[in-house]
Amino acid sequence: EQVYIGVDLGGTTVKVGICDSKGKLIQTHEGPTESEGGYEQVTDNITTYVKKIVEESTYSWENVHGIGAGIAGFVDKKGLVKRAANLGWENVHVKHILEEKIGKPVIVNNDANVAALGEVWSGAGEGVSDVICYTLGTGVGGGIIIENKIHQGFNGMAGEIGHMSVVPDLEAIQCGCGQKGCLETVSSATGIIRMAKDAVERGERTSLSLLETISAKDVFDAARVNDEVSIRIVKRAAYYLGRSMSMLAFVLNPQRFIVGGGVSKAGDILFDQIRENFEKFTPDAIKEGVDIVPATLGNDAGIVGAAGLNLFKI
Ligand code: BGC
Ligand code: NA
Ligand code: ZN
Repeated sequence: EQVYIGVDLGGTTVKVGICDSKGKLIQTHEGPTESEGGYEQVTDNITTYVKKIVEESTYSWENVHGIGAGIAGFVDKKGLVKRAANLGWENVHVKHILEEKIGKPVIVNNDANVAALGEVWSGAGEGVSDVICYTLGTGVGGGIIIENKIHQGFNGMAGEIGHMSVVPDLEAIQCGCGQKGCLETVSSATGIIRMAKDAVERGERTSLSLLETISAKDVFDAARVNDEVSIRIVKRAAYYLGRSMSMLAFVLNPQRFIVGGGVSKAGDILFDQIRENFEKFTPDAIKEGVDIVPATLGNDAGIVGAAGLNLFKI
């Protein structure tokens, strides 16, 4: 039997999985990233988890027909991470390092590109050839699938949707990428939490001020019971998401937008607003037949897609 290993490297957790050739997840293993130890520590950890999952499975290395990894950051076509703000990496040749440590070829790509591939392979995008995937978590990730393939652009940077500068200058705040006004600053979990804290600090009347720490989920929960500040924050996050989707629809004409990541668990309160804004800014001919749906692989999209990098030659 042929199996594939997928690695999903996030800021706090490394997830590793074994998939069959149809994108079905057979086994998973998780461990801490320990990004404070730098890329040497992180790549050592990945190597340990990869070796461990094979050891603990019923497969041997003979069965493993490829390893893929998705990394949260600007990854070029050669597997060089140019910048990964949430990992604190700059110019880390992660493909080389992993291949050296694991002793096998490793295909490396961006985490959201890989999640998009996972969703198209065996999730919310199954059977759809043109898909744009958003991942809403610590950052806002993007993955563009055109005719069943990850669209990489000339050097691999395509799909960095979260850093499109969409917020008007006067309201724009600094992003981890070095620019201002990025979609990520308003539509990621981090951005939502920041807007909530700002409102509390300004002394606005909100139930959020009663909480010791505020999560993105708290903001959605409060919005559901009509906390006005929270409603405003959710609307703002959704406005820029919907509007950015409209712009991408004009340029790329995807059939489906898939929204995943922790924030997407908010459900209708988020999706209704995203759809409303998408529709508002998009004429019929452009939006006809296009839908906006939640991801279905959830936290597994990254590992499934990373495993899939080996099957879909990109
Ligand atoms: C990074 C992307 C990544 C996304 C989600 C962004 O801040 O620039 O490369 O895909 O976060 O992890
Ligand atoms: Na991407
Ligand atoms: Zn940015």
